[in-house]
Amino acid sequence: MTDLPQLIADRLAAAFADVAGEPADPAVRRSDRADYQADGALPLAKKLRRNPREVATEVLEKADLGDLVANVEIAGPGFLNLTLNDTTLSGLVADVANDDRLGVPNAKEPQRIVVDYSSPNVAKEMHVGHLRSTIIGDALVRILEHLGHEVIRRNHIGDWGTQFGLVIEHLIDEGATPTDLHVSDLGGLYTAANAKFKEDEDFKDRARQRVVKLQAGDEETLALWRVLVAESERYFAAVYETLGVTLTPEDNVGESAYNDQLASVVEELTELGLAVESDGALCVFPDGFKGRDGNPFPLILRKSDGGYNYDTTDLAAIRMRIRDLKAQRLVYTTDLGQQLHFHMVFQAAKQAGWLDGETTTAEFDGFGVVLGPDRKRLRTREGNNPKLVDLLEEAIRRAAAVVEEKSPHLEAGEQQAVAKAVGIGALKYADLSNDRVKDYVFEWNRMLAMEGNTGVYMQYAHARTRSILRRGEVDPASLRGVEVRIAEPEEHALALRLLEFEAALLRAADGVEIHRVCGYLFDLASAFTAFYDKCPVLKAPDEQTKLSRLVLCEVTGRTLAAGLGVLGISAPDRM
Ligand code: ARG
Repeated sequence: MTDLPQLIADRLAAAFADVAGEPADPAVRRSDRADYQADGALPLAKKLRRNPREVATEVLEKADLGDLVANVEIAGPGFLNLTLNDTTLSGLVADVANDDRLGVPNAKEPQRIVVDYSSPNVAKEMHVGHLRSTIIGDALVRILEHLGHEVIRRNHIGDWGTQFGLVIEHLIDEGATPTDLHVSDLGGLYTAANAKFKEDEDFKDRARQRVVKLQAGDEETLALWRVLVAESERYFAAVYETLGVTLTPEDNVGESAYNDQLASVVEELTELGLAVESDGALCVFPDGFKGRDGNPFPLILRKSDGGYNYDTTDLAAIRMRIRDLKAQRLVYTTDLGQQLHFHMVFQAAKQAGWLDGETTTAEFDGFGVVLGPDRKRLRTREGNNPKLVDLLEEAIRRAAAVVEEKSPHLEAGEQQAVAKAVGIGALKYADLSNDRVKDYVFEWNRMLAMEGNTGVYMQYAHARTRSILRRGEVDPASLRGVEVRIAEPEEHALALRLLEFEAALLRAADGVEIHRVCGYLFDLASAFTAFYDKCPVLKAPDEQTKLSRLVLCEVTGRTLAAGLGVLGISAPDRM
């Protein structure tokens, strides 16, 4: 284990506990004045009604910092400012360099975690909201798996519901048969059907009857529905392939997959006394959800016409994920607009006794909307929702121009491959580097900028580390076991970042704060750039220093690649 902030906290923990009379968080974080600071004396002093500087002094007297820390000072109202020991850092960096997992251990208590993400809708275009969900979910599942958890992916595709009445009836009007329906016809199918539904009374009637037929299992209707779903899923798979995300067809467990459980969910909730009739519909009113008028909000189990809906399906899904899949943690990510829905589903699941909030937890990790450069909801020039495939194509096209300019030495084929990595990487990184809950501004130029917290900056930094090794004709394997010597301030700063990878991953996994990993990679790449500017590697003053610096290059490269890897971004060796 090489989680540097945690190592420091561990060193201080006993002293804090001693002063507090119970465990107390040393609150270690990075510092501008020293390497790290521990702020725990402040809250502790407040609790003990003592002077914080006195508390800090007492903690320091009791602390056994061993050889980890070279210097400690009590600063300001009672912070402990800590500067780490170069020799200790050298040993820790060498450990990380010699470890295939870069010092990141597998979780001691691995969890089974269901992540519900992407979840586009059949017969509709995938939009940027689905893009965000796909990108965030993919990064999360990779991080969780990297940390040793067992992840079950759930692509909760919208493949059932009254809208299929219109879509199928429209298809029949157009003379479609199950054999001649193709992916290219699907986008916007719902839009066209819906327009007709609004202006054509006869169609409206037929569409309604079609829903009944679909729900009753009418073969002709089902056959069309099946092709519709299959073709849509092929289209989604193509998008996932271009995006390079880990979703597979086995992860598709759409709304319709719960059809045979809906009646039993309703039955169970009724037996528990949670389901009540309201305006002809059967509803659950989870505790604690009220409108401004004081009226409780319902989850609708069964509408007055007997149909089940989105709420019922999500209740069935959560029950199944806990009872049958035995998940310990459930994660859902969609845009924040669905927050209320999920919080109500979680509360209902608690009241039903499915979710206990301790051994099984559920969380909604919503995200903000994608804005255009004008800070309004992202639209195409024609004012439509941008199609996902068009965005992906444009990302690669724009990246190709960047790569052509920055990497003229690559041959055409390699340039193309790099352009794809850069374009898709830019799209993902731009999304992930933003605080999830904030709206995010979609700007090609910023996303593909060579400087700053961007995917392409990280990819070039990674390629630079590889190029140094190539120029020095160094086989990375030969660096195993080489002694590391941290001496210069830039080496010291880089070493600190190299020892924080695990901390970044843990924080990202905990609160689904993927931007922590991006921020970490940016700091690491920046520390590497500063190191590379100041500390000659291949022209180091002596052989020992050269080898040590080569290790720093190699392990930085590997950390950048692993960090990009858990974000779902590839790191070409040559750029
Ligand atoms: N299909 C839904 C949409 O496009 C998202 C589904 C999210 N997952 C869930 N279990 N409800 O908005």
